[in-house]
Amino acid sequence: MTQLLLTTIINERFLNLDVSQYTSSVSAIHHRLEQSENEPTGWLNGPIAMDSQNLYPILTMADEIKKNAEVLIVIGVGGSYLGAKAVQEALTPYFQKNEDGIEVIYVGYNLSGSYMKQIIDSLQGKEFYVNVISKSGSTMESSLAFRVLRKYTVERYGEEGKERIIVTTDPEKGLLKEIADTRGYRRLEIPSNIGGRYSILTAVGLLPIAVVGVNIVELMEGAKKAALDLKEESLEKNEAYRYAMIRHALYTQGFRIELLASFEPALSYIHEWWKQLFGESEGKSRKGLFPAAVSYSADLHSLGQFVQEGSPILFETFLHFKEVSKDYSIPYTIANDDGLNYLSNRTFNEINSISKQGTVLAHAEGGVPIIQIEVEKLDAFHVGYLIYFFMKACAMSAYLLEVYPFDQPGVEAYKKKITELLIEESVAH
Ligand code: PA5
Repeated sequence: MTQLLLTTIINERFLNLDVSQYTSSVSAIHHRLEQSENEPTGWLNGPIAMDSQNLYPILTMADEIKKNAEVLIVIGVGGSYLGAKAVQEALTPYFQKNEDGIEVIYVGYNLSGSYMKQIIDSLQGKEFYVNVISKSGSTMESSLAFRVLRKYTVERYGEEGKERIIVTTDPEKGLLKEIADTRGYRRLEIPSNIGGRYSILTAVGLLPIAVVGVNIVELMEGAKKAALDLKEESLEKNEAYRYAMIRHALYTQGFRIELLASFEPALSYIHEWWKQLFGESEGKSRKGLFPAAVSYSADLHSLGQFVQEGSPILFETFLHFKEVSKDYSIPYTIANDDGLNYLSNRTFNEINSISKQGTVLAHAEGGVPIIQIEVEKLDAFHVGYLIYFFMKACAMSAYLLEVYPFDQPGVEAYKKKITELLIEESVAH
């Protein structure tokens, strides 16, 4: 049974898609991906090879952290934190601590002194571990945060503190690896053939996700199912390829923005992770869809107007989970002074679903092309499936645009400039 149903609603502006036009290019890219041994595509078959035995070291480390700490501080930026944060937000309660885990907080994804001071203050009197994550081992934001947290760990725990620092980095090279080996910090590996934004299903995402109490065995089972399902070459059978094809077709018709829309606030960091995945993979050579996201129904009252009637530059991809874990019924009241008793036998989730259907219809009528991604249930298995689905679709989509999905030269340019400026300023200081 397919876990993820992808359906499309096509409005008038989008009637001319000839699928056969894509058959040969999709097939060529499919074979390129399948045979890409020397490319950073370790994530393609990673979940198939992964089982509970492979996960054992991460699960054991997560248990140790949960036993000895109240907080895990994850240091990382971009692909080194967004995936873990996305799964954490999607699968843990809104207002309470997850029963099976401890608090996980993120640092090193901004340069705010205020944020850093408040994190350090919040750790006073709390037991903690630090997990610093960086593939290159030298990113400015995470390196500075690690400097601060390393010092603070020594102040709090002395020499023993090194047992509380876990380094996740490249197995062969980089400054962070050298620091870990010299200082005796434990290391987890980011496989050499997996880059930042494709690394969520490695130790990068899995350790924090396990510590926060999400079942990583189920998450990986879902990803494995997707990896097997999405090995299909045919566009009719491979939903990731169909999604890639439709977004490419819309791009060629002049749409320049893809708006990912969902109706569950817990998905807001899935949006952020998705934005990075597609934005960094495709935005090159003056090409690519700009990935934006909205959280409805809140954003129906802000950006909804633009989507319905503004410049016709965007299409919308609705991401909907049919079943979410908790729900609440609308109460019946005798007074009915708000006139809402007609809804009193309904639940919020039912109304949310109807609101999604209404929004799809209204926006389609307004001329917005709509893609709908329907997922059975908001749980670890299906989120694992969805993550893999998006990564595979992204690789296909970038190659259809004739850009290389696995580098980020524009980010490197920014990293270089900021370092040059800081050196200049520090010399003058
Ligand atoms: O996808 C990528 O490779 C980037 O977004 C990186 O994840 C980000 O720049 C952080 O790099 P690093 O993990 O090397 O610190």
